[in-house]
Amino acid sequence: MLTLIFVSFLFGARSALSSPYSSSPWDNYCNAPHVNASHYQLPEEGAELVHLTVMMRHHKRTPVALVPNERGINDGIPWDCSGVRQFAYDGGGARLSHSVFTPSDHPFAQQMWAGSCESGQLTTGGFQDSMVHGEDLWELYHDRLGFLRSVGPGEIGVRTTYVDRTKQVASGVLAGMDPSTAYRPWAVHAQPQLIDSLVPSYKCPRADSLVAAAQAAPFWQDTLKNNSALKERIDTVLGTTKSNAVWPNTFTFYQDVFTSRVCNDHPLPCNTTGDCVSEEDAAKIFELGNLEYDYLWHRAENAAEYNQLTFGVMFSELAGALEEPKHPLALYVAHDSSMVRMAAGLGIFPLRWPRLGSEFVIEVWRDQNWTQFVRVLYDGEVIGSLSWTPLDTFINLLRQQVPDHLFEKCASVSG
Ligand SMILES: *[C@@H]1O[C@H](CO)[C@@H](O)[C@H](O)[C@H]1NC(C)=O
Ligand SMILES: *[C@@H]1O[C@H](CO)[C@@H](O)[C@H](O)[C@H]1NC(C)=O
Ligand SMILES: *[C@@H]1O[C@H](CO)[C@@H](O)[C@H](O)[C@H]1NC(C)=O
Ligand SMILES: *[C@@H]1O[C@H](CO)[C@@H](O)[C@H](O)[C@H]1NC(C)=O
Repeated sequence: MLTLIFVSFLFGARSALSSPYSSSPWDNYCNAPHVNASHYQLPEEGAELVHLTVMMRHHKRTPVALVPNERGINDGIPWDCSGVRQFAYDGGGARLSHSVFTPSDHPFAQQMWAGSCESGQLTTGGFQDSMVHGEDLWELYHDRLGFLRSVGPGEIGVRTTYVDRTKQVASGVLAGMDPSTAYRPWAVHAQPQLIDSLVPSYKCPRADSLVAAAQAAPFWQDTLKNNSALKERIDTVLGTTKSNAVWPNTFTFYQDVFTSRVCNDHPLPCNTTGDCVSEEDAAKIFELGNLEYDYLWHRAENAAEYNQLTFGVMFSELAGALEEPKHPLALYVAHDSSMVRMAAGLGIFPLRWPRLGSEFVIEVWRDQNWTQFVRVLYDGEVIGSLSWTPLDTFINLLRQQVPDHLFEKCASVSG
């Protein structure tokens, strides 16, 4: 109960801020709106839906950013992931699932919170949100539009990343579409971690150098300088003063530490002497995080090139998948790092930190003349500039985001 009040207080404090990065886009951060039957509008009289691509961010999870005394800042509250069994092996031997525990006398236990969660693991709440997400997709595209007929691997192709939580979300979405999918085997596709285009996680030294240059540019240095008191205040509570080497140029780790807690009804971090991160400081970090995303992927000098280098492989895959669809529904379960790049490539500005469960729906329609058009919805809303785009034009738009000689370009770091 206390945490509920706390959470609404935090979000209340947030809306009092006036920057364009802080206001309404933070609403529903913990569970973004998605397309749903009750608010859906058909595009054009007589048009027929022929293909559907959904690319979504996973739902709520535990933090990925840990502080040196992680156990200490959780005020004794364990993280509970008992509702989401992490599967590890189902290949003809015993069906193993992966259950996390930390003995309290483990000499390194202070580095990890108490409880049954790995860092970055989908939480029980995140799994439930995934199920609802699937139910709502099904209600719309099956019950109402009659487009999807059955839930099976022939009808729905699923692509995740190598990260477990994307598979856990896919599992929840499919079971939400059809409860009988629970316990049915289903192969989802993921590329090797070394070269995965969806995270994306392939190496691109040139892209790294562009980010480093953007972070060194006066605008970002001034932003860091102007917020150094905030950062110092938070660092003393988190005990991350010495983590400067790791968290110096970005607000995203702080953002992760705070939003993961807020979204899972945990209090903001407190240190062992009882000092806590304030709601105002957390709200300011949310705002700076939004600003950081818009800066790195949109406003920084080489942002467009950076985006194309790091997501060009995925844009190319999407273009190919739209030219020759393999399934009525292509479902991609991905990350904020994927969603922000997609938004940047499609020109949806200003950018925000993508919300949990955030979603792109790319509908391909055929009009009465058999011409194919694309309509894109982002977090349930039609994108004005992509409300009825000829399929060829849309595919070209994706292809324009694919640099020639991408592999060689990534390797060529020039000053
Ligand atoms: C349904 O769609 C509307 C319009 O986009 C949105 O405001 C609402 O939050 C959506 N509901 C859910 C459960 O996502
Ligand atoms: C930093 O603060 C100064 C003084 O308030 C202000 O003029 C400047 O615009 C700020 N810079 C950034 C990038 O926020
Ligand atoms: C807890 O945070 C307060 C306020 O930032 C700080 O003064 C204090 O030293 C911290 N205590 C510990 C044990 O880190
Ligand atoms: C179909 O094509 C005809 C002839 O080109 C045109 O007049 C009509 O407006 C088109 N209909 C639609 C629905 O686009």
